[in-house]
Amino acid sequence: MSDNKGMRKNLTNYGDRDFSEFLRKSFARSMGYSTESLQKPIVGIASTPSGFNNCHRTVPDLVDAVSRGVLAAGGLPLPFPTTSLCEPFLSPTSMMFRNLMAMDTEEMVRAQPMDAVVLVGGCDKTVPAQLMGAVSADIPALQLVTGAMSTGRHRGERLGACTDCRRYWGRYRADEVEKEEIDQVEGRLAATAGTCAVMGTASTMAIISEVLGIALPGSASIPAVLADRLVCAEMSGKRAVELIANPIRPSELVTRKSVENALRVLMAVSGSTNAVVHLAAIAGRLGISISSERLNAISDETPVLVNLKPVGEGYMEDFHAAGGVGAVLREIRGLLHLDTIDVLGQTLEERLQEPLEWVDRNYILSFDKPVSRVGGLIALSGNLAPDGAIFKRAAATPSLFEFEGRAVVFEGLEDLANRIDDPELDVESTDVLVLKNAGPVAAGMPEAGYLPIPQKLARRGVKDMVRISDARMSGTAFGTIALHISPEAAVGGPLSIVQNGDRIRLSVKDKKLELLVPDAEINKRLTNWQPKMMPQRGYQALFHKSVNQAPKGCDFDFLTENGEASFRSPSNVDLEGAE
Ligand code: FES
Repeated sequence: MSDNKGMRKNLTNYGDRDFSEFLRKSFARSMGYSTESLQKPIVGIASTPSGFNNCHRTVPDLVDAVSRGVLAAGGLPLPFPTTSLCEPFLSPTSMMFRNLMAMDTEEMVRAQPMDAVVLVGGCDKTVPAQLMGAVSADIPALQLVTGAMSTGRHRGERLGACTDCRRYWGRYRADEVEKEEIDQVEGRLAATAGTCAVMGTASTMAIISEVLGIALPGSASIPAVLADRLVCAEMSGKRAVELIANPIRPSELVTRKSVENALRVLMAVSGSTNAVVHLAAIAGRLGISISSERLNAISDETPVLVNLKPVGEGYMEDFHAAGGVGAVLREIRGLLHLDTIDVLGQTLEERLQEPLEWVDRNYILSFDKPVSRVGGLIALSGNLAPDGAIFKRAAATPSLFEFEGRAVVFEGLEDLANRIDDPELDVESTDVLVLKNAGPVAAGMPEAGYLPIPQKLARRGVKDMVRISDARMSGTAFGTIALHISPEAAVGGPLSIVQNGDRIRLSVKDKKLELLVPDAEINKRLTNWQPKMMPQRGYQALFHKSVNQAPKGCDFDFLTENGEASFRSPSNVDLEGAE
């Protein structure tokens, strides 16, 4: 074992390296390790079970299986805990803590004596956090996801979190479902261990991990409860040991080309809008940026091939049985950079050499007969979103793609909660619902962009209307919704000065989101805009001070490769193109 490997790696600083090693080993011996074990290469296992994380219920079993693989390959597995994040268990939003987990992961990987690491995560923010930490720590790493839930049953229907959660809740709000039935549904939506059962953020990020090459080929979609998930864990442990002798670092896997491949696949699977933010954050750790123009070009060239909820019919278990990521990659092969490598050291071209024996065309369609000729997501620009916004056209109502309407404004999350169901609210289905102050600086960017249809309209049968905000939306949600408006209202973006009654235009054809107010009036309102007070202590103070805007991934400015300062001043707003 060379000087800076295994137990001699990252020695505690006492000013005497030999004493540091002696002390470390003597303390390690107290855990029952033999001298022989302590001489082996070490694979750290970032372990994230938590009583507050249902999606990670199987992590202890997965860690055991990874350890088995490490031992079989001649390494010493050392699991260690990090922050664990589960979407519905965190206030105000799990997004606020993704960067905390990323820092925790990076620093623990960097500070402790490990030669490689297997990162075990799954729920929405955990995989992005682990990938951000891994690319910054940059030792050989594999991502192992927990896998998606299997579906439950209700009155002859399959149910899966959480598209069906929203569908049933919408029906309950519209008085189509009784209290007794919604209580039954509550117990049938999340039927097994694992992450949300549809093509939501967790599934999308699992797929992106595989396309970036940092998760084993074929691993992203294995359901949480299948034995194959444990086999995959064992293989991940084995491969981690092999990577110590022949290192492939995350920075060799996450490249401009692999990020573009990930964007292609994101479009082809009609993945979550959140993935754009997370991918920007992961890439930003290496100085790779994603422009709106490139995102739109990729979207316009890449067909949607996957027929899964929230926009289609199937669930992740169907996607896996249908052929998984490998089937999608083969269909869009002609659009991919084939010289990227994965954690096995093979190029994408080598991975895709063998055709799949069978693909279920109910769930993974062919390139020639796609669900849609164009990708699921686009970036919007315009005077209301000078730095961009995201729109999931695959989950929107086509008749609302070219739309002009009157703004009905909510100044923040509390205002929205207080007034959305007020019978006196002046709102029609032809209006545009506007939510401000739900961006990263204001509120940690919660998944509040799926504004509920006002109850009085829902009861009239209104299922969708145009909604815009600086918030995010769950990957399991759907509707004609513009998200991630940047700069956000809380830093003086033009969204901050929208007033009730202003006219707003959405054009999917032109990829525009515009406030139809004269420039002089916009500038006058912006000049009078005042920032609100921000939290003054602890992690939240750090978050508010340092978080970047959505196009940069909402990472902390000091953690990006360039350590750029984030957008703060309203005077930086570019109004070019304003009408
Ligand atoms: Fe964990 Fe949906 S709540 S993946």
